[in-house]
Amino acid sequence: MKIFLDTADIDEIRTAARWGVLDGVTTNPTLYAKVGGSSYESILAEVCKLTPGPVSAEAVSDDVDGMLEEGRRYAKIAPNIVVKIAMSENGLEAISRLADEGIKVNCTLIFSSNQGLLAAKAGASLISPFVGRLDDINQDGMIVVRELAEIFAIHEMDAEVLAASIRHPQHVTQAALAGAHIATVPFKVLQQMVHHPLTDKGIVQFKADWDKARAELAARKG
Ligand code: E4P
Repeated sequence: MKIFLDTADIDEIRTAARWGVLDGVTTNPTLYAKVGGSSYESILAEVCKLTPGPVSAEAVSDDVDGMLEEGRRYAKIAPNIVVKIAMSENGLEAISRLADEGIKVNCTLIFSSNQGLLAAKAGASLISPFVGRLDDINQDGMIVVRELAEIFAIHEMDAEVLAASIRHPQHVTQAALAGAHIATVPFKVLQQMVHHPLTDKGIVQFKADWDKARAELAARKG
């Protein structure tokens, strides 16, 4: 399963790239608002230099022409831009037209398998079910991930399931087991995946034992 970082924060993206675990990035207007400071386009351009993987840029228009204009503009930033279009009737039309133009689309705000199926049929290459937001309303968000992964496999559809709205490390494991092709994770969750209390404790213990053995050796020699 590929791992994308769900952020517009350049430092976080740079760190994950250095760790060698970054397969792509997803951004959205909320994540952009959190960092602000420069234009969305300039942040996207910088992100695209940090990863050769897909970088999702979200359109906010609700009419087809607006979505097309935003999508075409973002697609010109770099070859690895993927335009994010929210699921809607207009969204499906925009996805279909952008896909016809060879622009890759990530259909976002997916909360049911039927929505994901339609988005894939319209031509979206990434389908983003929002796991955490479904969990928040007492529905099992992972069911949509599992169903879509099965549907795409059964019908040999090319679209990839991108598990989004990931809130904790268990979501990542569950998404991988459910057959998600990609999980997009906040940096905090990526850090939580790295650590285990026994690993961290073990590192401290090994270092202390090493220092003790070296000190004893030095004392014997001296
Ligand atoms: C990513 O593509 C989504 O926009 C993001 O995962 C949504 O996450 P949230 O539900 O935590 O805002």
